[in-house]
Amino acid sequence: MSEAKVIDGKAIAATVRADVAAEVKRLQASHGLTPGLAVVLVGEDPASKVYVKNKAAQTVECGMNSWEHKLPAETPEADVLALVQKLNNDPACHGILVQLPLPKHINSEKVLNSINPDKDVDGFHPVNVGRLWIGENALVPCTPTGSVILAKTVMPDLKGANAVVIGRSNIVGKPVAALLLREHCTVTIAHSRTKNIEDVVRAADLVVAAVGIPEMVKGSWIKPGAVVIDVGINRVPAENGKTKLVGDVAYEECAKVAGAITPVPGGVGPMTIACLLRNTAQAAAMQAGVKSAFA
Ligand code: GUN
Repeated sequence: MSEAKVIDGKAIAATVRADVAAEVKRLQASHGLTPGLAVVLVGEDPASKVYVKNKAAQTVECGMNSWEHKLPAETPEADVLALVQKLNNDPACHGILVQLPLPKHINSEKVLNSINPDKDVDGFHPVNVGRLWIGENALVPCTPTGSVILAKTVMPDLKGANAVVIGRSNIVGKPVAALLLREHCTVTIAHSRTKNIEDVVRAADLVVAAVGIPEMVKGSWIKPGAVVIDVGINRVPAENGKTKLVGDVAYEECAKVAGAITPVPGGVGPMTIACLLRNTAQAAAMQAGVKSAFA
């Protein structure tokens, strides 16, 4: 069996960012509109700080406005809600992202639900979840959008494909399933309680793994030639006493059987911020009543 084609998420994310930059130029030239993204970071979580820094740099690279609101960890919930209201009312700000996790004394759901759904570039607001499932123009969560873009680079026509999504979280599994349904796949959502999960996965032309269990999906579960998209990012001990990142898919085994596969790192990961920028450009166009290149 030949080795699977490796889907290069880093390169594909760069093409998404180039598309966003072109869309920003178009919105500026035709409507004098510069999309703007505000990121709210509460506290000092080191991973979140790196993430927010990368987001800001890439937002500016695409020609958009970027604002970072860094608040101390002990900021009262009411102050965070007041900041979100201020951003909701700011016409220059088209996208609002409140970085998760928030400190424990803040009710994340309450904060996320206070974001104007039209500015909800994470796509987490119940209004956007509803819009996605009923097929209306929605802001769609970034990692799911990125996963489907990657799948389509090797399987441009997903119509009628058997897709198995492993994991049923609100931020990945469920929105991926909704997007694949929109692409006319036959979608199965498998999860930790699924019986005979290996047989379920073996029927799939497309597997999207988002369970958060390191290397759970084995090579013997994969139908020869299937496309495997690995959303997992798990830090595990390495042989040298350090740690390493692995996905939810046992990469080496699965790459021997699959037709195409995403690596970890360098697969779905780089797509998330690229799709956030795409959502920001889409949100700006929608708010201006202009047709978006992305919706
Ligand atoms: N923290 C880690 N990833 C994300 C994300 O995609 N959105 C938000 N809001 N917080 C995050």
